[in-house]
Amino acid sequence: TSSSTPHSQPLETEATQCRVESVKRHLSRLVVKSLCAVAADFDVEPMLEVSKSGFGDYQCNNAMSLFPRIRESATNLGNPNAVGQAIADNLPPSRIVESTSVVGPGYVNIVLSSDWIAQRIQDMLIHGIESWSPILPVKRVVLDFSSPNIAKEMHVGHIRSTIIGDTLARIFEFANIEVLRRNHVGDWGTQFGMLIQFLFEKFPNGEEAANQAIGDLQSFYRDAKKKFDENPDFKGRAQQAVVRLQRGEDRYLAAWKSICQISRNEFDLVYKRLNVELEEKGESFYNPYIPHVLEELTGKGLITESKGARVIEGRKPPLIVVKRDGGFNYASTDLAALWYRLNVEMAEWIIYVTDVGQQQHFHSVFSAARMAGWLPDQKEEKYPKASHVGFGFVLGADGSRFRTRSSDGAVRLVDLLDEAKSQSLAQLIKRLTENGQIAKWTDEELDKTSEAIGYGAVKYADLKNNRLTDYKFSYEQMLSDKGNTAVYLQYAHARICSIIQKSNKDVEELKMTEFITLGHPDERSLGLHLIQFAEVVEQVCDDLSPHRLCDYLYTLSERFSQFYTNCQVVGSPEETSRLLLCQATAIVMRQCFHLLGITPVHKL
Ligand code: ARG
Repeated sequence: TSSSTPHSQPLETEATQCRVESVKRHLSRLVVKSLCAVAADFDVEPMLEVSKSGFGDYQCNNAMSLFPRIRESATNLGNPNAVGQAIADNLPPSRIVESTSVVGPGYVNIVLSSDWIAQRIQDMLIHGIESWSPILPVKRVVLDFSSPNIAKEMHVGHIRSTIIGDTLARIFEFANIEVLRRNHVGDWGTQFGMLIQFLFEKFPNGEEAANQAIGDLQSFYRDAKKKFDENPDFKGRAQQAVVRLQRGEDRYLAAWKSICQISRNEFDLVYKRLNVELEEKGESFYNPYIPHVLEELTGKGLITESKGARVIEGRKPPLIVVKRDGGFNYASTDLAALWYRLNVEMAEWIIYVTDVGQQQHFHSVFSAARMAGWLPDQKEEKYPKASHVGFGFVLGADGSRFRTRSSDGAVRLVDLLDEAKSQSLAQLIKRLTENGQIAKWTDEELDKTSEAIGYGAVKYADLKNNRLTDYKFSYEQMLSDKGNTAVYLQYAHARICSIIQKSNKDVEELKMTEFITLGHPDERSLGLHLIQFAEVVEQVCDDLSPHRLCDYLYTLSERFSQFYTNCQVVGSPEETSRLLLCQATAIVMRQCFHLLGITPVHKL
């Protein structure tokens, strides 16, 4: 993947050369021109949104706020409605706009040309969905996500980070941006002294037995911690062990490495099921850079002494970068990592995906970076830029925080995922038995399908919510085939595939010879939604909120079913055009699935 060649430029494929501007951007340019004519001396941003009123497809809302600003100079525009009318009249002629109308206090309704919508869909069929990928002014992004801690429990929060981070990575990759997918694992710090010392004392002369014992790292960690807390002598020896590890003594390094490896194997089980790729660059990687980075910050006068620690002031509370005992911490590591990402990896955008609890930490780190001049002042240039993507908690059925541990032992995250798969398998078998189709399915097909549906359901249930809100984890809800669920969407997609298949037409050929027309209102409404795919992806790139893509996908399947209910496809005079519309819907749905990390199912 791209992460192995950090300095190569993204490939310019034929499809990316055909990339088109999103509808919204296209319209915004027209509105900007009009605003220049109406209010030349004022710097106004276009205010454009998808129309909710039903009077048009898009609505320009500039008039109301513009009116009081220009009433002195433009005396001929006596009220907001007149300003709206002027905006409409000054839109440059364009084949994309069919008509405009002005209502109320100057809302300009814009109706797009149906022919143009149809043409745009046809072009996508010919050039591929990549032609609808967003064009962003960045080449390289560092995405710091998942990032569990070695020897500690990987909890549902880390799953959220993994799912959200992977989706963002996929979306940027679709936009032809190089994404460095970084797993910033917690693999450094004083707890390793404790673990290593515990290991040595428990197994004074054995590798084999040791590996076995730390197989269950979590209870190993618990036992070590217990001894550390209860036994002051042991605590002292553990602190010595940290020093020897940091000095790089072989025996200590080897023990550290094997502990990391055991954790890593466990994490990989989760990544494999979620089909997520990550490149590990843990905290230890940045450790050698810390002294130099802190020296630079000291040189800039940013680091001060406070109660024996060294801190960066600026935001409250101050950011501690050297502890009282002289050791480095989470914050010093993050400063070094940020420095490395900006100066060595030359990333233009660095994005961190963690629960909202760490927001304060990241904002302090970013503010230190701004004071140091590593990042531009927010108001001026936009890049390089650092963003924290926070998310809420996962809740259990009773509304309290979801725990992966039950009183009788640990429920591993892999088991949680596998449960979704096995429930979805049971559901599938039940349905296929009921409708007499079960004989047509091989075991392998059943396995692959239930895996795609089960894991996809877990991801979608997470992604469909605004990431900042908490959500309840419920197999029953996520595996329901009704409502806004991955299962429902998988069915919708499989149905479109079967419509196309049953028509016995070769859509690959049709798209070159036949035209799409959007005569029926439900065809048009589906078509309009299809071409809005690009701006939705653009929006997600802007505010890093994947739920927008889920909303889009759900609405798409609703519009499709409305169309399919009211417009006969096979055997109608419009058959070829309608088949192409089905094909375009299936392609856009599959692309949404792909961006959400969900494997689409073609047969259900
Ligand atoms: N290991 C941390 C945790 O489990 C997350 C690390 C996030 N990334 C970072 N660069 N601080 O909470």
